[in-house]
Amino acid sequence: MWSRYLFGVVDFFVKLRDNRTHMPFFEAEIKTWEDYLRAYERSERSNAEFWAAVADTFHWYERWHTVVEGDFARGEARWFSGARTNLCYNGLDRHLPDLAQKPALIWEPNDPQDASVTLTYEQLYQQVCRFSRVLDQLGVKKGDRVCLYMPMIPEAVVAMLACARIGAVHTVVFGGFSTAALADRINDAQCKLLITADGAFRGDKIVPLKFMADRAFFDCLSVEATVVVRRTGEEVNLAANEYWWHEEMEKQTPERPAEILDAEDPLFILYTSGSTGKPKGVLHTVGGYMTYVGYTFRNVFQPKKDDVFWCTADVGWITGHSYAVYGPLLNGATTLIFEGVPHWPDGGRLWDVCDKHKVNIFYTAPTAIRSLMTFGDKQFENKSLATLRTLGSVGEPINVEAWEWYHQKVGGGKLPITDTWWQTETGGIMIAPIAGITPAVPTYATFPLPGIFPVLLDGAGKEQKYEGPTVYGNLCISKPWPGLARTTYGDHKRFVETYFSTYPGYYFTGDGCFRDEHGYRITGRVDDVVNVSGHRIGTAEVENAINEHPTALESAVVGFPHEVKGQGVHAFVLVVETPEHPEKLADEIRAEVVKNIGSFAKPERITFVQGLPKTRSGKIMRRILRKIAAGQTDDFGDVSTLLDPAVVHDIAGLKYY
Ligand code: WTA
Repeated sequence: MWSRYLFGVVDFFVKLRDNRTHMPFFEAEIKTWEDYLRAYERSERSNAEFWAAVADTFHWYERWHTVVEGDFARGEARWFSGARTNLCYNGLDRHLPDLAQKPALIWEPNDPQDASVTLTYEQLYQQVCRFSRVLDQLGVKKGDRVCLYMPMIPEAVVAMLACARIGAVHTVVFGGFSTAALADRINDAQCKLLITADGAFRGDKIVPLKFMADRAFFDCLSVEATVVVRRTGEEVNLAANEYWWHEEMEKQTPERPAEILDAEDPLFILYTSGSTGKPKGVLHTVGGYMTYVGYTFRNVFQPKKDDVFWCTADVGWITGHSYAVYGPLLNGATTLIFEGVPHWPDGGRLWDVCDKHKVNIFYTAPTAIRSLMTFGDKQFENKSLATLRTLGSVGEPINVEAWEWYHQKVGGGKLPITDTWWQTETGGIMIAPIAGITPAVPTYATFPLPGIFPVLLDGAGKEQKYEGPTVYGNLCISKPWPGLARTTYGDHKRFVETYFSTYPGYYFTGDGCFRDEHGYRITGRVDDVVNVSGHRIGTAEVENAINEHPTALESAVVGFPHEVKGQGVHAFVLVVETPEHPEKLADEIRAEVVKNIGSFAKPERITFVQGLPKTRSGKIMRRILRKIAAGQTDDFGDVSTLLDPAVVHDIAGLKYY
């Protein structure tokens, strides 16, 4: 009774404070361990109230009438119904009164000899307005899909924000994807406009983006116009409906009001791989994504007023969307984007960039760390790294050695690693230490952010509650949160089947996970997705590409442990007879994968087999192939359901190419 009364009093003051200032308060600003616990407890008590308080830290033209509605268990939770807002407005216009002259975007080019570029909030705003007008001029309307196939240059950020400004839906395709993969995505999303560049510099190479896009067009009838950024100087012939970025920008004025959008209007589609079939277009919406990404950025990374934040991810991946672009800008922070690669011109490139731009918060993937570990200490010669305060990791499990190296060599033994677990579908970081506030433990993503409710379920759907000894299970989320994707574009059934059918009532992440006193430790995918250098690759996609080769009757692809990439791709290819020139055939098969997906998905190892371990019902028993690929051939477990158990030992004895 008394405690109820006390809560009532506290709530009254909290509400009073909300009404008075409409400014961030503890849900949105976690500054101490107590704040964290209090915010978590409050989110447990009332999820809707909690998220409303977080959402209140943004600008809404009209506030919501309902915070969350719809059935989460059926993938139908919808957020901030009735509310109207604009993410671009929140990321730019809202900051102009105070931050017009503050750097919003720092761009470091591929070649260290070239000049970097800094755009203030005002300059970025003006460019975004101009490009919004270019989009208007080209007939792009609210809801139209726009494909970006671009290098890491400021124009990519400008184009994303301009789409957000006018309500067009961007779909960014990573520049490492092949022509065929680009065409698939453009067709699936029925993009009306393509924005690309003559080429992309990547270390000492040039990727001819426009040339690749031209070839995609034979199959892409939806594209009505193309805008091309001049970057590398590759020769480009512009057709009638193709325009140079710089020429179109010059014609426009630097003002263009932000479109007033519904909270549930689509913001972007991003293609990602799953267990089966083609990549799916994960769709995020304006209000929920904005709220979640803004909230997670400021709490997980704890940016200070003049910090420079550097997320090394390409904008072609979700990490680039959420933490190179939207998260920092929503918080009025300075974000750095880098066009180049970590190893060129030498292994110290990333550290030079940190020193040159006085980076305070650095966020990268374990694969980058592991590959830099092979360069030795020379990479740190003449580097200070003195401005770094927070180090983050994302994309795959970080092993102890990589964690320690990152902590010791980059963090001078002082900076812990903020290991952030999340996914394209979750919109933003879900489980992670709060930098400098909650403990960081090697290999652990530790604890969920307030508002996020993970559970571990076993194969039968039974909750594995942590009550002392370590538990293990499949990681699921039990309550809705605003950042969750709303659907897979054009196929809601697939969305429900993929994420909400394995465990009724829960969002299923596809990851396995331990839970002990340090929190959650994610072990990696439990489905047929391979994570190579932090890139999600669906084994079915690689198999389809391999099967395009006339000699491949069938194939089965699995991941194997790889020292640098985390996992590598191992393909078992069924052929009628042992090839005469296996190396040559292996190269041809790799070329099919490069052509259909991109070189990052290339199988590192190919074994030619005359039989695959299939069950009597015709399913490939991948568990066995995974063991063979990992070199664990002493015990295959129960193989009694196999059609031909002898095949296992035949394969185990074969060489790979
Ligand atoms: C994996 C990237 C362990 C995981 C943001 C997940 C991680 C998939 C971590 C999503 C981490 C991501 N520790 N594993 N800190 N972060 N993963 O959609 O398997 O490209 O399901 O999103 O990456 O990859 P995606």
